Amino acid sequence: MFNQIPIVIYYLRSIVLKKEFIMSLQPLVKWAGGKRQLLDKLLELKPKKFKHYYEPFVGGGALLLELAPIHATINDSNKELMFVYKCLRSKRLFKKFYKACKEHELNHSEEYYYQVRNMDRKKTYKNLTSYVKAARCIYLNKACFNGLYRVNSKGHFNVPSGKYEKVHCFEEDNIQKLHKYFLKRKPVILSKDFEEAIKTAKAGDFVYFDPPYDVVADQSFTSYTVGGFDRKEQERLRDVISDLTKKGVYVMASNANTEFIRDIYKDFHIHIVEAKRMINSKATGRGNVEEVIITNY
Ligand SMILES: C[S@@+](CC[C@H](N)C(=O)[O-])C[C@H]1O[C@@H](n2cnc3c(N)ncnc32)[C@H](O)[C@@H]1O
Repeated sequence: MFNQIPIVIYYLRSIVLKKEFIMSLQPLVKWAGGKRQLLDKLLELKPKKFKHYYEPFVGGGALLLELAPIHATINDSNKELMFVYKCLRSKRLFKKFYKACKEHELNHSEEYYYQVRNMDRKKTYKNLTSYVKAARCIYLNKACFNGLYRVNSKGHFNVPSGKYEKVHCFEEDNIQKLHKYFLKRKPVILSKDFEEAIKTAKAGDFVYFDPPYDVVADQSFTSYTVGGFDRKEQERLRDVISDLTKKGVYVMASNANTEFIRDIYKDFHIHIVEAKRMINSKATGRGNVEEVIITNY
């Protein structure tokens, strides 16, 4: 009977740890393609059990934060955004990041927005520390027009001001919960190409891919970073998913419901779902659209 004690302690501990993070974490950024409206469907379709969670196109991390997994690797090619997550994971950086965000809130005006926005046009930008870039990223996300993240061909952030009188970088309760989660779980945080970011995935792990969507003629928002994501990239992603499938990794991916996507994923399970599109430069572009959730299980 006594040799059962460590097992009982292990289970009790995992119940306590899980409970601690059932605390509704919300994304810190408003991100194009954010998955909050698809969450129910994603939760229904995810594998019941998995080991390590990977999210290689994490953006605002709606699914990551809903699952709050114990072991996770998150990645996005957007370096400024990943600095934000790094600040959440470190006590030292978090304090500085938090203070810098509060300063942005205090200084906010139309003129100040453009000063901060144009920082990346200066040669000195690359020398700024990660928490300064992270706080700038959050401030711009909250103060710009419609929470867009768009850069021009030189990689300069070019979204106009949202013309808000006051700007709040975050909800106090949420940022503290996020910090607590990141500090405790210490997820691996990368800023690489998606193919590199999943190299360590093994059988029983779960990867959720939420790439920039296949572009349908009149909706061409793909400028998250310089580079874009064309159909060759979509095919490269499909090939990565095929390789992960051979390894026994669970994969779920979202995309637009286009003929091209249905064709390249014809050997997988395709679930058609309805989603509300939240960000589009034209107000008329908002409404219900069909999307697909692809699974290999
Ligand atoms: C649809 S968004 C992800 C939205 C996210 N699931 C959410 O809930 O907010 C796609 C993300 O992919 C990133 N991205 C684009 N190309 C990439 C690449 N080659 N490797 C990794 N990330 C990339 C973009 O910076 C963007 O944040």
